[in-house]
Amino acid sequence: MRRLGFLALITMLIISGCGAQGVATSTTKKTITIAHNLNDQHPVHKGLERFSEEVEKRTNGSLSVKIYANGVLGSERDALEQLKRGGIDMTKVSAGQLESFSPSYRVFSLPYLFENQEHFYRAMQLPEIQQLYQSTEDQGYIALTFYDAGARSFYSNRPIQTPDDLKGMKIRIQESLAAAELIKQLGASPTPMAFGETYTGLQQGVIDGAENNETALTSSKHGEVSKIFAVTEHTRIPDMLLISTKTWNELSDDQKEAVSQAAKISTEYQKELWQEAIQLSIQEAEKSMDVRFINVDKEPFRQKLEPMVERYRQSDPLARDVIDAVENLKGEENSE
Ligand code: GCU
Repeated sequence: MRRLGFLALITMLIISGCGAQGVATSTTKKTITIAHNLNDQHPVHKGLERFSEEVEKRTNGSLSVKIYANGVLGSERDALEQLKRGGIDMTKVSAGQLESFSPSYRVFSLPYLFENQEHFYRAMQLPEIQQLYQSTEDQGYIALTFYDAGARSFYSNRPIQTPDDLKGMKIRIQESLAAAELIKQLGASPTPMAFGETYTGLQQGVIDGAENNETALTSSKHGEVSKIFAVTEHTRIPDMLLISTKTWNELSDDQKEAVSQAAKISTEYQKELWQEAIQLSIQEAEKSMDVRFINVDKEPFRQKLEPMVERYRQSDPLARDVIDAVENLKGEENSE
């Protein structure tokens, strides 16, 4: 009788299509969706692919990741809205765009806050910056890690060598108050626009220029319609990998650990890819797109923008702590 009962159980499991293990895997298997606006050759996309591989490997396939690149699910603003509503599980957006939802991220849009890539990498490990990752929990998402999005410089069809050259120019910016302030401070006119619309904006003359890292010229083809890249390197705004709190809370502790580890590994991997990607973008822009790179004296830009950092430091005690911690690190670096 007992044996019959056991056989019946096995038969039932076979009919329902799952063995003992299958029950566990078929009920717990989950696919996480990530939306972002860069193309699938971009180093940030490659970082996300690495994230996806690591997640699958580290959860033995109980979690898999589906990446929607090229802005097919909308702009960064759209992605943030969908993330909050639970339409997607994860997204990668610039901290500049994120700032319009979570103002503490504004600190990344401050001019010349980071001295160079090395200082930026070290600053990203500071507890004052790491605490921003969890700070948005009540808004429906948290950050898992960052990706290097380089330094941002101006590009247009006019040579920009001094802040005066920017006077009256319409410059595309992310939807970011800090970016708008920065552009105004330089005497230009800020035009917020989705990244995906910038190519047409430049082509049709709706804007006179934009500002971004060098991959925008090649990966997003802006070099076809903007021929002079002025290396001002006025900001270093990271891309942030975000997960909705709802999705995060549905993960088991082991899965959370696996996802966190995968995120860290993907950042290290993306950092390795970044420098080479920038060099290749510069070469391609010069050789195949006839873009001219001009090395400008950054000092007049820095001086003109200094009051903005000071204003921000005075107006927000939290921002002051972050700015001070980042700047102190500069001192340490110099004295090493
Ligand atoms: C960077 C960033 C993008 C962002 C873009 C922008 O290139 O990597 O995620 O969309 O800036 O200026 O909007």
